[in-house]
Amino acid sequence: MAEFALPKNSVIKKNGKSHKAAPDAKDVRTFKIYRYDPDSGENPRYDRFEVDLDQCGPMVLDALIKIKNEVDSTVTFRRSCREGICGSCSMNMNGRNGLACTTAIEDLKGGEVQITPLPHMDVIKDLVPDFTHFYAQYASIKPWLQTVTPEPSGKERLQSPEDRAKLDGLYECILCACCSTSCPSYWWNSDRFLGPAILLQAYRWLADSRDEMTGERLDELEDPFRLYRCHTIMNCANVCPKGLSPAKAIAETKKMLVERAV
Ligand code: SF4
Ligand code: SF4
Ligand code: FES
Repeated sequence: MAEFALPKNSVIKKNGKSHKAAPDAKDVRTFKIYRYDPDSGENPRYDRFEVDLDQCGPMVLDALIKIKNEVDSTVTFRRSCREGICGSCSMNMNGRNGLACTTAIEDLKGGEVQITPLPHMDVIKDLVPDFTHFYAQYASIKPWLQTVTPEPSGKERLQSPEDRAKLDGLYECILCACCSTSCPSYWWNSDRFLGPAILLQAYRWLADSRDEMTGERLDELEDPFRLYRCHTIMNCANVCPKGLSPAKAIAETKKMLVERAV
């Protein structure tokens, strides 16, 4: 896959700091990490950290935690679950978006491992992108069950196993934004295009047999920018760390709009 564009505030100084591994380390890999501190007033730079892989866990997140704990405590990144559930450690590793906690260092080929924030996002610090706009777009699709009929007394709103199965491939989304920040249409039109992650989430509610606002939800999406900026480039499906296909969800949404028009 082609290397993605860098974050928005990127005029990168090539030569940051270099940190050596211990002289007796035998299996050493260099991690070239994007550094940006808005308080410094300086351009971003790359720092290099040699890591002794014999003293490190197997995942990229293990290396980042080791670097932060043992070499430079100011290296800043998000993480929580360490098992691909929370979506907070999404970043770009050797030109491909993914979760640092589920990306094995040995699967990243080549010499140095280059780590940058998710592409085309504003950067708060180092590897932490600003998700404010992404979350506002998520809120805009009203990501909760909307109903008009009264709640059945004493029991849940039931759903058949077949209808529940229609949510498979959708509910697993962890909102990591790996897909949206891989999408060229989102890079150039993120002010108005909702992007693959949010459109997959929007379809998750369109596909839910219990939701009673399908028409209103489709009205909101029927817009040349919000939905129709997807040009089926498929980066989103190629990069999703949960194996989901936002492109398919977008196609299903477009199909629903066509069907209701006839
Ligand atoms: S299929 Fe659509 S949403 Fe997915 S990367 Fe391509 S343009 Fe973006
Ligand atoms: S669809 Fe996949 S890549 Fe996109 S936000 Fe959800 S889990 Fe992340
Ligand atoms: S730390 Fe939660 S997904 Fe990586």
